[in-house]
Amino acid sequence: MDLELEGKVAVVTGGGGAICGSIAAALADEGVHVVIWDISRKAAEQRSRDISSSGGTAIAQACDVTDRAGVQRAGRETIAACGTVDILINGAGGSRDETTTSAELDFFSIDPDDMQRVIGLNYLSAVIPSQFVGRIFADKGKGAILNISSIAGTRPLSRALTYSNAKAATNNFTAWLAVHMAQNYSPRIRVNAISPGFMLTEQNRFLLIDRMTGEYTERTQKAVRAKAAHPRLHRAQTGVSNERILQSHIAHRPCPSSLHL
Ligand SMILES: NC(=O)c1ccc[n+]([C@@H]2O[C@H](COP(=O)([O-])OP(=O)(O)OC[C@H]3O[C@@H](n4cnc5c(N)ncnc54)[C@H](O)[C@@H]3O)[C@@H](O)[C@H]2O)c1
Repeated sequence: MDLELEGKVAVVTGGGGAICGSIAAALADEGVHVVIWDISRKAAEQRSRDISSSGGTAIAQACDVTDRAGVQRAGRETIAACGTVDILINGAGGSRDETTTSAELDFFSIDPDDMQRVIGLNYLSAVIPSQFVGRIFADKGKGAILNISSIAGTRPLSRALTYSNAKAATNNFTAWLAVHMAQNYSPRIRVNAISPGFMLTEQNRFLLIDRMTGEYTERTQKAVRAKAAHPRLHRAQTGVSNERILQSHIAHRPCPSSLHL
């Protein structure tokens, strides 16, 4: 598949994790220079080593994408190392048990400070890097931003209160930014989101797997039956969907209005 991405530079936030690590590897396979921004230096460096040992080009930068000063620092270092940015994947995010109702935590007791943190992690995490990289795209008149949302953003996930709310905000932000960049800077700046279903990763293990038995929880079994989750739950790491993601949302190819994975 030649998507004409060879030599481009992509910042992938949360690229030390499962979904965006897999997307980062797929980009590198297309000849893209990948820059991993992840709060975990260890995860970012490991991903970057894996990509390099498979013949790709990647560098790692420790960065909290909810912190504006940290993003600006990582952005300056990225420009110093790579010269520009062509693609931004906003993937850092995740659900947290502090804002998810459970037998131990009812809705009435959820702490607004915890809600602020989860909103930061799943909404501002897309906005703040888009401010830094979006300015570069505005100057160049082109670029692609892809936000990793969730099906929870269009249909609230039971129990996961703030995660669902924040992903809904990210969907709304995506549509807003797409129009804003096209109207004010260039129609060649693309802003899209994808909404994955359930995939087993460290951030949602507490929801999907019973801690005591190691079996799928009742909600996981329901999600598999409703086809909101792949029966193997690890689809993110197989790379099955990455080709479609790159083709539809990163390369300049005809693009569906939304892509539910
Ligand atoms: N796993 C799923 O079922 C699922 C479903 C739909 C959407 N998503 C979304 O996909 C994205 C990736 O999730 P994943 O499942 O691969 O999770 P993951 O936990 O494997 O990866 C998340 C990565 O983000 C990093 N990160 C966390 N906070 C950060 C911060 N403040 N700044 C920079 N990096 C930070 C983590 O260190 C980790 O490497 C998230 O936005 C998540 O909400 C996941």
